[in-house]
Amino acid sequence: MTEAKIIDGKAFAKRIRERVAKEVSILKENYDLVPSLTVVLVGDDPASKVYVTSKGKQSSEAGMGSNTIHLDENVSEQDLLDLIKKLNNDTSVNGILVQLPLPKHIDEANVISAINPDKDVDGFHTVNVGRLWTGAKSPIPCTPFGCLQMLRETLGDLTGKRALVLSRSNIVGKPMAALLLSENCTVTIAHSSTADLADRCREADILIAAVGRPQMILGDWIKPGATVIDVGINRIDAPEKGNNKDGSLKSRLVGDVNFDEAKLNASYITPVPGGVGPMTIANLLRNTLIAACRQKGLAEPNL
Ligand code: GUN
Repeated sequence: MTEAKIIDGKAFAKRIRERVAKEVSILKENYDLVPSLTVVLVGDDPASKVYVTSKGKQSSEAGMGSNTIHLDENVSEQDLLDLIKKLNNDTSVNGILVQLPLPKHIDEANVISAINPDKDVDGFHTVNVGRLWTGAKSPIPCTPFGCLQMLRETLGDLTGKRALVLSRSNIVGKPMAALLLSENCTVTIAHSSTADLADRCREADILIAAVGRPQMILGDWIKPGATVIDVGINRIDAPEKGNNKDGSLKSRLVGDVNFDEAKLNASYITPVPGGVGPMTIANLLRNTLIAACRQKGLAEPNL
């Protein structure tokens, strides 16, 4: 049996970052414009801190202006809303990203809707959600767009394919479904209450997994020849790696798909790490670049 080909997200993401960096240098040279991203982090969630640090580092490496504002865990919703208002009015800020999740006392929907939709580089504002579902120009949520880019590059035309999206989140599942629909796929959105989930998965030519349950999707859930995109990033104990200095078990990252089993059935599969993950920040840079061009009335680069 031939094993699935690996879709190399790291390589795809590197190409996007290089193209963005080139466009940024052209904007600087020709228009004295430096696209700039402000990331707001509330609290000290370790995973969020890692993501935010990478977002800042990669935007700087692409030649963009990069600013991270770190607020205390206990900041009031009103203070956060006031900060967003200030950033909306600051013409030197082209993109605003508030890292999610937010502490429980802050209403995420209120915060997202306070961001100027034209600076919303996540594409989470309801105006941008509406634009996406109606086919208007909008910033496209970074992770699902990364999945789509890899699918297009790997499979070409997606017309007529059966796609199953295992997630109904606003960040991944719903925008992913909208994007696949716009590529003429027949789309099913599945979730924790979906009946006969394994059978639904077996019907899918394209399977997008983003449930956050380590290795939940087994090899025999995969249709032979399917393309599997694993958005999950889960940390599990890795006894084979031994112990940390404090005696705890070492860990490793796995996706929502049992990779070793699934690769025996699939034609193409993304690994974890090194699959979807790197595409998210690459597309954040792309969205920031495009937002800057739109705000200044310049032609958008075709990336
Ligand atoms: N938390 C996890 N993923 C994301 C993302 O894509 N954007 C934001 N703002 N927060 C996140």
